[in-house]
Amino acid sequence: MSDRTCLSIVLAAGLGTRMKSDLPKVLHEIGGLAMVGHVLKALSGAGSDRVSVVTGPEMPALADLVAGMMPSALCHVQEERLGTAHAALAAREALVQPADDVLVLFGDTPLVTAETVLKVRDALREGSDLVVLGFETQDPFGYGRLLTDNGKLLAIREEKDASDEERKVMFCNSGIMGFAGKHALSLMEEIGNSNVKGEYYLTDAVEIANRRGLKVSAVAGSEVETQGINTRAQLAACEQDFQDRMRRAAMDDGCTLLAPHTVFFSHDTVLEPGVTVEQNVVFAGGVHVASGATIRAFSHLEGAAVASGCVVGPYARLRPGTVLEHGAKIGNFVETKNVTFGAGAKANHLSYVGDASVGSKSNIGAGTITCNYDGFLKHRTDIGSGSFVGSNSTLVAPVQLGDGAFVSAGSVITQDVPADALAFGRARQDTKEGRAKALKEKLKAAKDAKSGSAA
Ligand code: UD1
Ligand code: CA
Repeated sequence: MSDRTCLSIVLAAGLGTRMKSDLPKVLHEIGGLAMVGHVLKALSGAGSDRVSVVTGPEMPALADLVAGMMPSALCHVQEERLGTAHAALAAREALVQPADDVLVLFGDTPLVTAETVLKVRDALREGSDLVVLGFETQDPFGYGRLLTDNGKLLAIREEKDASDEERKVMFCNSGIMGFAGKHALSLMEEIGNSNVKGEYYLTDAVEIANRRGLKVSAVAGSEVETQGINTRAQLAACEQDFQDRMRRAAMDDGCTLLAPHTVFFSHDTVLEPGVTVEQNVVFAGGVHVASGATIRAFSHLEGAAVASGCVVGPYARLRPGTVLEHGAKIGNFVETKNVTFGAGAKANHLSYVGDASVGSKSNIGAGTITCNYDGFLKHRTDIGSGSFVGSNSTLVAPVQLGDGAFVSAGSVITQDVPADALAFGRARQDTKEGRAKALKEKLKAAKDAKSGSAA
């Protein structure tokens, strides 16, 4: 496709009143990424060399997202929301620059793939002047219907303008359209607003192109990819489809998911082939799991890198900045944050380890807590390799334990422990021979005296 230039216009100005939200509609997330972000990702994959995003006025968060994800993209403001053709024309500044292909996509149609966008571009390359991406659905309500005759696309009729007969058509408009660059601007400029909603409908370009004798065609995509989001219920249904797509991709790549429908992914989750994921695991943003690692049931991971041979969970929580090197183990009810566990290091039970480093082959006993926060500042705990922290120890940061250090169980450690040193941070045990028996006799006598006086 590199021989053809391509301008893509992403329409994202709608407020989405049916979402009943203060957030612009296209900023609602699928797999932790704003809907419009998914569209930008697909466009990168489809080789679009220029991208323009049409935003509404006062949508700084949308402009920031676009600038962050695609610094070369232009943002144009549609001052009044007068319809999809009006929105596309807000990008006039980009449209006047020549391009072979001009694509229009909707920011509320997040699951479209680069392959499908390329199908639209292929149709333009093969000589179509206007291409519409359609899809078959059993539930066409709300979508524009594609009116065809012998495979020829005649018009697109919006739900509100359609006759009863036209409403029975199940072939619908996804909203994704391709224009031959030389016709794009003039077709859009000819669109009027004489319809039930009084809006400038981009879909009217089809009838105008037919009147001009241009070549108009429809390309079919899948319903999953082309679903548009207007309501929270549609957002939730789309999230399900996205999760199914991620699960399928992980399994196709060679990962084992024991109960795929209970594993939830972020848009950026990377599982290398050969990872095993047990039931009920959530991957929030920024997780990378290397081949041969196992994520056991009921674990939650975010911003974490897990190397090969590691075992995480069951019931583990890895928070941002967690790095597990080869063969490290994080067990049940352990929370980690901003910490590196060296190769073979372990925290198997009931611990919090944050703002820390744990050297290779060190063992963090059950109930160990790094006290990293004094209410004002965070402090580090650095533990060398081959060290042993006994159960129920409290490591008050900032503090360092050298290689091979040994902290006895139940210690409160407030001072550094040098390499190979043994540290006790607890009161010494005092044992009195025979005193248990004497104490029990005394207590029993007191109880008997009390019940005797009550009778
Ligand atoms: C639109 C299509 C319909 C198609 C459906 C697919 C038109 C007239 N209708 O209907 O044929 O089946 O999408 O999901 O094109 N937007 C703006 N400015 C505007 C109006 C809309 O930027 O003035 C943006 C919205 O943010 C949204 C997209 O364009 O991302 C589509 O608008 P929306 O109002 O959701 O159109 P639908 O009624 O869903
Ligand atoms: Ca829509």
